[in-house]
Amino acid sequence: MGFVDYEVEGHVGIMTINRPKALNALNEDVLKDLGAAFDAVNLDEIRVVILTGAGEKSFVAGADIAAMSTMTKAEGEAFGKFGNDVFRKIEIFPVPVIAAVNGFALGGGNELAMSCDIRICSENAVFGQPEVGLGITPGFGGTQRLARLIGPGKAKEMVYGGRNIKADEAYRVGLVNAVYPQEELMAAAKKLASGIAKNAPIAVRNCKKAINDGLEADMDQAIVVEEKLFGDCFETEDQKEGMAAFLEKRKVERFINK
Ligand code: CAA
Repeated sequence: MGFVDYEVEGHVGIMTINRPKALNALNEDVLKDLGAAFDAVNLDEIRVVILTGAGEKSFVAGADIAAMSTMTKAEGEAFGKFGNDVFRKIEIFPVPVIAAVNGFALGGGNELAMSCDIRICSENAVFGQPEVGLGITPGFGGTQRLARLIGPGKAKEMVYGGRNIKADEAYRVGLVNAVYPQEELMAAAKKLASGIAKNAPIAVRNCKKAINDGLEADMDQAIVVEEKLFGDCFETEDQKEGMAAFLEKRKVERFINK
């Protein structure tokens, strides 16, 4: 699909942003293809999506600077909304999305990784929000999600200073869950994905929604969100099988997403 390749391995969808000549920078066409790729995922089959970048150098080197260089205020704002809408689609996508960050994740690249549920990266990965050096603010969620993920103090240091951080620091501040040698990254992402995909799909989806929606609510509302999604799992085939397997001291035969 244009700038985004998509393949399926069992219950895992693997999406690759493919514009390596520009280090997978995001222009409107790439963003459009990315949104369309998520829209096209068959949610009856797919239980986890892995998102990565083509090549060994870059996940995504940011929004396309050449495309932004001549934008008016109104066009800048509209471009911000365009990117934000796609990234929000990913953030609230029904199944978990793992970012396999295989190199530069700068500006829009870091913002894209932060829209995913879980981030792992290669040893050569570099993260940052260098926008202030270009005369702009982060515009695809960076001023919002970075502070929520790593705390306002560290986020402000990164955003105001436009200072990039390497994989080890990204791990230390909690921006990524794990760091792997480049050649092991996709295998690690697939292992992580299959560990999620083997569990009851409705329960996993409801966990994602409960965590995401709960983080946006105060605790009294958040626990009600949890109660509803907890209740929603009951009477499903997979809840019956999961609990029957435990009580009968056997392994789950298979979860069927019903
Ligand atoms: N936009 C457009 N083109 C880009 C790009 C970007 N964000 N990042 C890299 N490219 C292009 C380069 O222009 C270059 O193209 P040419 O070969 O046609 O000249 C090609 O990709 C390779 O890049 P470099 O030659 O620069 O590669 P390098 O290894 O020397 O440097 C880099 C790599 C450090 C990532 C450097 O490319 C760089 O600093 N890129 C820009 C990073 C950045 O500032 N990102 C934030 C963008 S703003 C943003 O994202 C706003 C937002 O929040 C929405």
